[in-house]
Amino acid sequence: MAEFKHRDSTGSAFWDERFAQSFMPWDRAGIPAALKQFVAQAPTPLTTLIPGCGLGHEVALLAAAGWDVTAIDFSPAAVAAARQNLGPLAEHVVEADFFAFQPPRALDLIYERAFLCALPPAMHEAIVARWAALLPAGALLAGYFFFDKTRSGPPFGIEPERLKGLLEPNFECIEDSEVGDSIAVFAGRERWQVWRRLPG
Ligand SMILES: C[S@@+](CC[C@H](N)C(=O)[O-])C[C@H]1O[C@@H](n2cnc3c(N)ncnc32)[C@H](O)[C@@H]1O
Repeated sequence: MAEFKHRDSTGSAFWDERFAQSFMPWDRAGIPAALKQFVAQAPTPLTTLIPGCGLGHEVALLAAAGWDVTAIDFSPAAVAAARQNLGPLAEHVVEADFFAFQPPRALDLIYERAFLCALPPAMHEAIVARWAALLPAGALLAGYFFFDKTRSGPPFGIEPERLKGLLEPNFECIEDSEVGDSIAVFAGRERWQVWRRLPG
C-alpha cells in the first residue's frame, strides 16, 4: 500500500514520492488516439514542448515522426523514470520547472495532458499565462483537458467556461472533440482540444 508524506502538488516532492513508489494512476502507458491522428495529419513537423511529461510516452511518437520534441518535468524521479522508459530517446527529457523553462527554439506546439489538472485551480491562471508567453502567434496548444467540478485533487477539474475565459484573450479554439480512449480516472470527463495562439 502506497503511503505519502506530501500533499501539495505544486511541489516536486509530491510527485517524487509518487514516482518513487510507482503510484501513477494518471499514466496512460501509451499514446492516445487523438494525438496520433493530430501527428499523422500535421502538414509539417512541429517543434513541441511537453510540460509535466511524467513518463513521456508521447516523445516516442513525436520523435519517430521527425518532430523536435522536448519533454520537461520538475520531479527528478519523474525525469529518471521517463528517461528509463524512453531508452535511446532519453535526451529529449529535461529536468525543468515549467514556469522558468526557456525553450531553446521557438515553439510550434505545446502538448497538454494531465498537467493543468495536476495543479490546483489557484495555479490555472499562471499556467495559461505561461502557455501564452511560450507560444508565438499561430502556434498551437493541443491536448487533453479534464473538465469537472471537483475542487479536490489532483486531478483538479476545470469548468469549460473557466478554461474558455482564461484562454480566449490569447487563443482561439479550432478543435474540440470527445475522447473515446480515456483511462478510468478521466473517462467521460476529458476532451481533446486544439487552441491557436492569437497575435498580441
Ligand atoms: C499528473 S502527472 C502527468 C504526467 C504526464 N503528462 C502524463 O500524462 O502521464 C503531472 C506531472 O507534472 C509534473 N509537474 C507538476 N508541476 C510542474 C512544474 N511546475 N514544472 C514541471 N513539471 C511539473 C509532475 O512532476 C508530474 O510528473
